[in-house]
Amino acid sequence: MTGSSESGGSLPRFLLHGADYNYEQWLDFPDVLDSDLVLMRETGVNVLAVGIFSWSRLESNEGVYSFDWLDNCFDHLYKNGQKIILATPSGSKPVWLSQKYPEVCQMTASGVRHPHSGRHNHCRTSVKYREACVKINTKLAQRYGTHPALILWHVSNEYNGMPCFCPQCIAAFRTWLENRYKTIDTLNAAWYTDFWSHRFTSWQQIFPADPSIHGLMLDWQRFSSDQCIDFFHAESEPLRRITPDVPVTTNFQKPDVGLDYHKFAQHVDIVCWDNYPEWHRTGDDESAAIKTGFLHDLCYSYLGKPFLMMESSPGAVNWQGVSKKKRKGMHTLSSMQAVAHGSDSVQYFQWRQSRGGIEKFHDAVVTHFGTNDTRIFREVAETGSLLKKLASIAGTVKNAQAAVVYDIQNGWALDNAQLPLNIEKNYQEECIAHYGAFWKMGVPCDVIGAQYIDYSRYRIIVLPMLYMLREETAEKIRRFTEQGGVVVAAFLTGIVNESDLCYLGGTPGKLTDVFGLAVEETETIAEYENLVFKMYGQSWKAFHYSDRVRLGGAQALGKFEKPEDGFPAVTSYKYKEGTAYYICARTEQNFLSKFYKELCIKHDVFPCVPWEIPAGVSVQKRADAIFVMNFNSHEIDISVNEKKYYSFLGGEAVGSKITLAPYDLIIITDKKA
Ligand code: GAL
Repeated sequence: MTGSSESGGSLPRFLLHGADYNYEQWLDFPDVLDSDLVLMRETGVNVLAVGIFSWSRLESNEGVYSFDWLDNCFDHLYKNGQKIILATPSGSKPVWLSQKYPEVCQMTASGVRHPHSGRHNHCRTSVKYREACVKINTKLAQRYGTHPALILWHVSNEYNGMPCFCPQCIAAFRTWLENRYKTIDTLNAAWYTDFWSHRFTSWQQIFPADPSIHGLMLDWQRFSSDQCIDFFHAESEPLRRITPDVPVTTNFQKPDVGLDYHKFAQHVDIVCWDNYPEWHRTGDDESAAIKTGFLHDLCYSYLGKPFLMMESSPGAVNWQGVSKKKRKGMHTLSSMQAVAHGSDSVQYFQWRQSRGGIEKFHDAVVTHFGTNDTRIFREVAETGSLLKKLASIAGTVKNAQAAVVYDIQNGWALDNAQLPLNIEKNYQEECIAHYGAFWKMGVPCDVIGAQYIDYSRYRIIVLPMLYMLREETAEKIRRFTEQGGVVVAAFLTGIVNESDLCYLGGTPGKLTDVFGLAVEETETIAEYENLVFKMYGQSWKAFHYSDRVRLGGAQALGKFEKPEDGFPAVTSYKYKEGTAYYICARTEQNFLSKFYKELCIKHDVFPCVPWEIPAGVSVQKRADAIFVMNFNSHEIDISVNEKKYYSFLGGEAVGSKITLAPYDLIIITDKKA
């Protein structure tokens, strides 16, 4: 099913501004709700996510329910003008449940059951856990499904793919394998089990704890992810059935939690994610902004439509090595960055700072200080008033012509692989480096998976380190290129197929004719070697990996110097109507910026503004709004001579120079009101 269109009504046509409201933590403080209602109005908060970790309050023992406190919360928020996103509570199970049915806790590979503790750690296969979730979710749907404040279901919290090795999971995995491979011989061939005498003769022999069998590890990761999606369906079933008009979602995280979000996204009505960048951590906020832009665009690209930023911190978090407060301006800037990249909301963890527990030093909109007279509160209120003015942006889409492929399963395969260089694989960083070149130029760029996406909508597709190249993806790339597309691959692309078996006869497998070359071997570059290549009349550094290629029609645009003398470093090949480029090594950011600038000029892909964008400044366009954002800690002057611009909000003309204070932004448009 593709949940995005299966059911679920639509969200309001304004930008949401909200927070997690863990009201259950404040039930012993009767004044808090009244005070919160006033403060919420002052911040322009129009939505609250409630009930996320409230199971032990909702059901204090099996079948013993109390909803009065939540009824009270619903009614007061509604009367106060706020919408509600209601969470199902499965993210954190009550202790009575773990004690009565120990199978709801996960098991280690050595067969040890985890004790009840923490959160986000239930067994996703457990029949008892699924039953308990369905029961409580049914009650919630029956009680609140028609409440006029309810706009969205927030199913569970931050699911992950953490494996559980209990007997129910292992049995489900074996069934999953049987469905996938049908016969044990097909599985043996796919997993290459003659290596180290690993042949299986029965499904019952398979146990997923052998990192020497890459096919097994990858399938176990796929299964763990699929099982989570299956769990999501199981616990969403009563919501979908009882409240078919209320959309259903769950909050995603950064893509390194063991879930194939490209696939998961096909099952939710709207993508949501929790965004926690490390601002001011290293002194290089441009890099943090590029990474955050990459992650926002990834979320946008899962379904190619607007998403919600379900969580972000209004101040500092308390779980990074060094958790910094946001400097003046950064709160509104980072919130607007989300909107510029396609978010229809700015939401926080959390509304009111916890008094106890592991998150008591995590900032919130209302801090322990407890009033509206705080820096954080004022900045949140400022953001709220800006969001209100930007209402017309809600629901608008972006149309990038370039896309970087960042494929989550490919990341798993690369992590599993033992390569000649293992200490600096840096797959995500490599993708961000290519994306960063587009970001710096102000060229809109999607971040797509290899699957679930139609490539034909793009002009340029970039494949950095697409080590696991599914045959189906290779075919899509071939068609894309022959029909006039521009494809760029960077080293270590097309090494293995979907089963993690190496392609024979030169790489990129299945695409050597499209690129007009074949990689014969890959060398590891040691730091002392200072490898460089020449291109555009200058030298560029190469690091870590360099593919040694044999040209088969492609032209070398750049060549390595010693010790890789004469090997092509960058190639291009005209394949039918399109062009295929190959970058043979990891290289410096400045090279990528130059390369993609030339590429965009040559292939008619344009930035959203015609002027030079200074370092540390991001320009993103959404509908008619052009967001010009300064991530520098210093003031910036930008010359915008070529064209006439107006303030997006006020309509007044913008002069030929824009000056932005540190961490400031301006939203402009080239359409006169
Ligand atoms: C999120 C989580 C929240 C809260 C927050 C703190 O990952 O969903 O419940 O823990 O982190 O930053």
